[in-house]
Amino acid sequence: MRGALAAAAILAGAALALGQSAPKPKPGASGAAPPAAAPAARIGCVTCHLALDDARVSPPAKLFADDIHAKSGFTCANCHGGDPTTEDMDAAHDAKKGFRGKPKTADVPALCGNCHADAALIKKYNPSQRVDQLSEYKTSGHGKALAKGDATVATCISCHGAHGILPVKDSRAPVFPTRIAQTCNRCHGDAKLMADHKLPSDVYAKYAKSVHFEALTKKGDLSSPTCNSCHGNHGAAPPQVASVANVCGTCHTIFADQFKQSPHAKAFADMGLPGCVTCHENHEIVHPTDAFLSTGKDGKCSACHDAGTEGARAAAAMYRDITALKTATEKARAALEREAEAGMLVAKPQFELSKAEEDLTKARADVHLFRPYEVQQTVAGGLTIATTAKAQAAQLARERGFRRKGLGLSLVLIGLSIAALVAKIRTLGPGEKP
Ligand code: HEC
Ligand code: HEC
Ligand code: HEC
Ligand code: HEC
Ligand code: HEC
Ligand code: HEC
Ligand code: HEC
Ligand code: HEC
Ligand code: HEC
Repeated sequence: MRGALAAAAILAGAALALGQSAPKPKPGASGAAPPAAAPAARIGCVTCHLALDDARVSPPAKLFADDIHAKSGFTCANCHGGDPTTEDMDAAHDAKKGFRGKPKTADVPALCGNCHADAALIKKYNPSQRVDQLSEYKTSGHGKALAKGDATVATCISCHGAHGILPVKDSRAPVFPTRIAQTCNRCHGDAKLMADHKLPSDVYAKYAKSVHFEALTKKGDLSSPTCNSCHGNHGAAPPQVASVANVCGTCHTIFADQFKQSPHAKAFADMGLPGCVTCHENHEIVHPTDAFLSTGKDGKCSACHDAGTEGARAAAAMYRDITALKTATEKARAALEREAEAGMLVAKPQFELSKAEEDLTKARADVHLFRPYEVQQTVAGGLTIATTAKAQAAQLARERGFRRKGLGLSLVLIGLSIAALVAKIRTLGPGEKP
């Protein structure tokens, strides 16, 4: 053991002397005992690499303890080749034993794919795990660019790491939903790298302002999308969508169904415009407001529909109807709240009013049919409910008024009787008993 490590030190020293970039084992490293409890301690590669304590070649051995592959019984040699049973470096690193050293970036997908595209092998360890990562990867922008010789793109290890690979459901994994955006941003936020590829470098910055990011990171809603939900884990887009532009419908199904029936579906397709993204953006998706239908700065329609055209009239009609229902429900809600604060029983009308608020939500979704009549119908139902609720609040207010007046009157009467009594007492002389 000591001899082998000393030999490694000498070899490393020799490599240094030759001007190659080789690690320099720290003094005393050869005397450091390998961690006895480590499960892979008997494997020569790990033992020696741990003891090397070198900034380049030790971390893989340290990280490997936590690696899913180590936990499944694989060793360094499963990826690097060589002889894991010996503690002699030359023998371990023997090219005749298949030692490959550090794989080139271009060779990484095939290296991982060796096992991950092997259905029979993967099945033995994890029957439900997919085996299409390599084939999907080849269809992605990354995979295509790599095939053309661009080694700056993401390969398997850019997203998963090379050593210390964690199961994807482990919350510490770089591909975990709350972490993946940062993993992508390592490259997609690199201004120079992106400029070289004619891509924007502010994607993460924009995504970080979106409703989706807020739901995912602040509300802990793991069903809210992050980079890979829309772009796919390995392929160019998730398997169930033909293009990234259509990805929204996988979660917002009602909106997508409505949009498909709308006059825009065909018109946008003919113009080569991406559906939802045309009005909502792709990364910086904000909470939509009714002002989207206005002709103001937030308006989404006037870019294509000039004033006086059918589209502009439709926008104006839907805006008017939705705003009317919004105002009516808000006023009714406020009036009922005033009555509640004054101690009146309002549970029933409040419950009724919530149905009008549901209609308002529905009307906002119905916008996606782009048929003003549909919105008008939904709004009409809601307005009737809101008007009734408002009338009930007014009725309660009147009752409250009567009661107040009634109370006032009785107070006056009581006051008058007391005054009369006092006056009567005064009329009686000092010696008389009342
Ligand atoms: C006795 C110590 C020792 C043993 C055993 C050993 N290594 Fe190494 N290994 C080193 C040293 C020292 C270096 C750095 C010098 C070099 O690059 O050759 C290194 C470098 C490497 C590198 C980086 C090579 C490169 O191309 O940059 C890989 C990969 C590696 N070892 C894998 C293994 C594997 C896999 C095993 C077991 C099959 C193993 N090592 C066994 C000492 C050892
Ligand atoms: C699942 C496959 C896999 C396993 C298992 C694996 N490696 Fe690696 N290793 C890689 C890949 C891929 C790279 C290239 C990393 C890169 O390009 O950044 C690499 C790089 C290295 C390097 C060079 C590091 C550098 O920055 O130059 C060393 C040293 C190394 N591995 C040692 C080991 C040792 C020791 C073990 C066992 C404890 C091990 N590897 C297990 C895939 C693996
Ligand atoms: C651009 C980043 C990225 C690249 C490149 C990448 N992966 Fe993944 N990988 C992910 C994400 C994200 C997940 C899914 C995480 C989840 O389900 O939450 C994943 C999941 C996996 C899984 C779990 C099973 C599955 O398919 O869901 C395996 C295995 C895997 N990747 C292997 C690979 C291999 C092998 C390569 C290279 C051929 C690779 N990955 C390339 C990001 C990447
Ligand atoms: C020697 C075969 C082999 C090689 C090479 C290999 N893997 Fe694996 N990997 C497996 C097996 C088997 C599993 C399943 C282990 C389990 O679930 O117990 C696995 C699991 C994984 C997982 C966890 C999947 C999950 O469901 O959470 C990821 C991520 C992963 N590998 C990525 C990689 C990457 C990246 C590479 C290349 C650097 C690679 N693997 C190379 C065999 C291999
Ligand atoms: C190691 C750096 C790196 C990482 C990590 C990375 N990318 Fe990329 N990505 C690139 C480069 C470089 C390109 C430009 C490739 C080209 O020229 O087509 C690119 C291209 C893309 C493209 C455009 C491809 C196309 O079809 O036009 C998308 C989308 C993309 N990446 C998404 C992601 C997502 C999502 C993640 C994280 C899950 C991610 N990337 C992680 C470097 C990276
Ligand atoms: C809600 C879905 C969604 C999320 C989340 C998302 N994207 Fe996108 N992304 C898209 C759509 C849609 C496009 C436009 C694709 C098209 O027009 O074909 C796009 C385009 C891109 C492009 C190409 C940009 C260009 O101008 O050509 C890159 C790179 C990219 N996204 C990276 C990312 C990264 C990195 C993240 C995470 C920080 C991310 N995306 C999050 C949906 C999403
Ligand atoms: C993986 C599922 C998923 C995908 C894909 C997805 N979304 Fe979402 N989206 C959600 C969830 C969950 C929320 C709810 C966030 C919250 O709690 O406020 C949401 C919220 C929204 C909102 C805000 C609604 C509101 O009332 O404030 C809009 C607008 C939106 N998404 C549009 C889109 C668009 C456009 C796309 C495609 C580019 C898209 N979404 C892709 C899941 C998804
Ligand atoms: C032509 C423009 C346009 C297109 C295309 C479009 N929307 Fe909208 N979207 C709007 C407008 C306008 C509103 C705001 C309605 C309101 O609040 O009065 C809205 C609101 C929303 C809301 C929030 C509803 C609420 O309850 O506040 C979601 C979610 C949404 N859209 C998703 C989508 C999805 C998913 C697609 C694609 C299937 C899509 N939108 C396509 C214009 C559009
Ligand atoms: C990117 C351009 C674009 C945007 C933005 C857009 N539309 Fe359209 N819209 C069209 C096109 C193109 C047609 C089809 C016109 C035709 O067939 O003559 C259309 C058709 C319509 C129609 C059917 C009546 C007609 O003119 O044929 C209505 C209603 C409509 N749009 C409403 C809206 C509303 C409301 C908004 C805003 C929320 C909106 N549009 C935003 C391009 C757009």
